[in-house]
Amino acid sequence: MQSKSRCFLESVGVGVPILFIHGFPLDRSLWRSQVQPVSEVHRFISVDLPGFGDAESATANDLQSIAQMADEISLALHDAGVDRPAIVVGLSMGGYIALEFWRRHRKWVQGLVLVNTKALADNPNAVEARKTMAATAMARGTQEAVEPMVQKLLSSTSRTLPQLVEWLKQTMFAVPASTIEMAQLAMASRDDFTAKLHQIDVPTLVVAGEEDAIIPSDVMKAMADGIPNAQFFQVASAAHLVPIEQPNVFNELLFEFLSSIVKDDKDTN
Ligand code: MLT
Repeated sequence: MQSKSRCFLESVGVGVPILFIHGFPLDRSLWRSQVQPVSEVHRFISVDLPGFGDAESATANDLQSIAQMADEISLALHDAGVDRPAIVVGLSMGGYIALEFWRRHRKWVQGLVLVNTKALADNPNAVEARKTMAATAMARGTQEAVEPMVQKLLSSTSRTLPQLVEWLKQTMFAVPASTIEMAQLAMASRDDFTAKLHQIDVPTLVVAGEEDAIIPSDVMKAMADGIPNAQFFQVASAAHLVPIEQPNVFNELLFEFLSSIVKDDKDTN
């Protein structure tokens, strides 16, 4: 491992670290509705994964796996002086990374929140689709590669919200083509986590969007059923981006979960 992370890390507040990992092809602005309420009570930490947002660049030549991304986050936490286990919140690709982070850096995890994500690896068709998206991005640019995703990410209600749609497009289209390629190839080669779910021994909350066409609720429910004592919730009028589509509902679920794990967070670190 190198000694300095290529992630960008934002830290606000003090107390138990609540670590937020964004999905593809987004950045830490996904968590804009969580920063304030979480940092009032705990230490809010979000990362821009390598190549995304304000992070350093990363290409398919030098970053090839979800496991490496988990290690980059571990370095970022170390760089930021985080010295106690976090509750790790990951959305979609961020959830794949959260599961790897738990596997590789277990003692730094005291809880998991898995949002719009799954344990299953890609089937051959999905791998081909990722290779196509990666090649399109490199040949014709990010916008052409990711534009078909825009509608799929949002619920029918969210699609009528111009500010949300504008944020989504701006964030997605700003991602460098080389990052699109890197992330797609990394996701295509990720491990299937299904057989390991029963080993998860930290409190886990699983949140699905009722209209999520990318990772349907029943897939998420099956994942939750595989994790001992996991709680499962399905959120209405939300698709693949529950925390920003239904922030109030998501925050309520999150805080109820956090308060069941963190008994007293008045101390500082
Ligand atoms: C994401 O939101 O991170 C992606 O849709 C995940 C994926 O492509 O599997």
